[in-house]
Amino acid sequence: MDSKINKLNELNTLANLGGGQKRIDKQHANKKLTARERINYLMDASSFEEIGKLVTHRTTDFGMQDQIYLGDGVVTGYGTINNRLVYVYAQDFTVFGGSLSETHAEKICKIMDMAVKVGAPIIGLNDSGGARIQEGVRSLGGYADIFYRNVRASGVIPQISAIMGPCAGGAVYSPAITDFTIMVENSSYMFVTGPNVVKTVTNETVTSEELGGAETHASKSGVAHVTTLNDVECLEDIKKLLSYLPQNNTETPQALNFKLEDEIRDVLSDIIPDNANKPYDMHSVISGIIDADSFYEIHKDYAESIIVGFARLGGRSVGIVANQPMSFAGVLGVKSSRKAARFTRFCDCFNIPLLVLVDVPGFLPGTDQEWDGIIVHGAKLLYALSEATVPRVTVITRKAYGGAYDVMNSKHIGADFNFAWPGAEIAVMGAKGASEIIFKRDIAAADNPVEKLAEKEKEYADKFANPYEAAKRGFIDEVILPKNTRRKLIKAFASLENKKVDTPKRKHGNIPL
Ligand code: HXC
Repeated sequence: MDSKINKLNELNTLANLGGGQKRIDKQHANKKLTARERINYLMDASSFEEIGKLVTHRTTDFGMQDQIYLGDGVVTGYGTINNRLVYVYAQDFTVFGGSLSETHAEKICKIMDMAVKVGAPIIGLNDSGGARIQEGVRSLGGYADIFYRNVRASGVIPQISAIMGPCAGGAVYSPAITDFTIMVENSSYMFVTGPNVVKTVTNETVTSEELGGAETHASKSGVAHVTTLNDVECLEDIKKLLSYLPQNNTETPQALNFKLEDEIRDVLSDIIPDNANKPYDMHSVISGIIDADSFYEIHKDYAESIIVGFARLGGRSVGIVANQPMSFAGVLGVKSSRKAARFTRFCDCFNIPLLVLVDVPGFLPGTDQEWDGIIVHGAKLLYALSEATVPRVTVITRKAYGGAYDVMNSKHIGADFNFAWPGAEIAVMGAKGASEIIFKRDIAAADNPVEKLAEKEKEYADKFANPYEAAKRGFIDEVILPKNTRRKLIKAFASLENKKVDTPKRKHGNIPL
């Protein structure tokens, strides 16, 4: 019996070594943790149970039968993070560069299937040279098996991808389908075709970092939702993100213990400048409303005219979508509409109530925007909010103009509670633009057109640049003092806890993609 136990111990030791000590040292020299170290850091102590540790590839081409590594380049299994069950895979760069073989893919698919069966989040730690070149189409098939499962699991269990090394070619499409992609700065990159192909096809000279590094995807493409300084910070971020999410689409996120006190926040009274055209930072409104230090921002450096992220309100998870007057006056553009729509749909999938903070002058004008399809991209946000059945509450802090008023979680598209601060301006357009159109003849005929315009502007502003016309019609449920906002929101969301909405029977809607 002893010899049999020794055999098992030997195999386990061998598997733990992955591609061997030399390659582990190289991984460390590149300031990267190994797959096993990453998993150990991510999961609660001793909670990880590995599955498929002894799996090997089946390839015999190119002398591969002599290069067998137990586990075949990916560590898979389950365990807990803050006592919650999760499934995880971590690609092992020390084995054939973490490249994906048929069996490597089978291991990932196995735990994806289990995660869906038991309703637990799945986390992928990616660090791979892509398709296992020695395996050809079998590897491509493996990728497609994963993509298919990513799609089937979408909206059923949360899926989080960490990019902790290379991720190139078609491999990028699994993270792209998952809910969140977190990239490690300076050691990860993602692109469909690398710098060499780019040079051949378009004659552009670009580095991997410029083409598909963390900063590029966080600010230019929006492919990365979050970036982190290093592996450890990345793993910490996964834990943090997970804390706002439920296990699956049949559950609500776990609330934290929270003792409510007098929830008046005077700090909210002094944020809006007297001059309506002066910007202010919507982050200060957010932090004035939510539980202390609870904001976890998504897409922080992408399409900054809108802010999205998770927070807690009285201990409960909420998703926040908020215009940012500090960036392009908070206008809705192609990118900001897409960003907010995607976030809204995530929250709706996973029963996370939505808080929408509005200060929006309208949609961004210009040929760039029109030709890039602001019509269809703006419609994404309109569609996403209209279809969301989670509790939805709106606060208009200042401007709500034009179509953007409708889009930003208005009553008309199904919001549950709509509040406005006393300085809110809810109208078709700003007073100046409106007066120039409807009083064009009066102004032209006036002895002093400038004075006339100012007079008409004031007349229009007095009538419409306030929240009371909307309140009269019930489009705004209540005009509230800024300092009472937190208290109102906690009560509003509590009252909506058992909200149920029947949706029409259909296969699925056809969101304007
Ligand atoms: C097999 C691979 C591999 C791959 C790397 N290795 N990529 N083995 N298949 N795709 C092996 C190397 O031979 C090497 O083995 C070890 O992994 C580490 O690789 P290095 O090149 O030494 O590491 P580094 O210098 O850090 O460069 C990493 C790299 C580079 C940039 C990822 O290895 C590389 O360019 N690899 C090829 C990437 C690629 O073209 N993949 C296919 C993309 S197409 P030893 O034994 O020396 O340690 C694709 C299609 C997917 O993925 C489509 C899905 C639908």
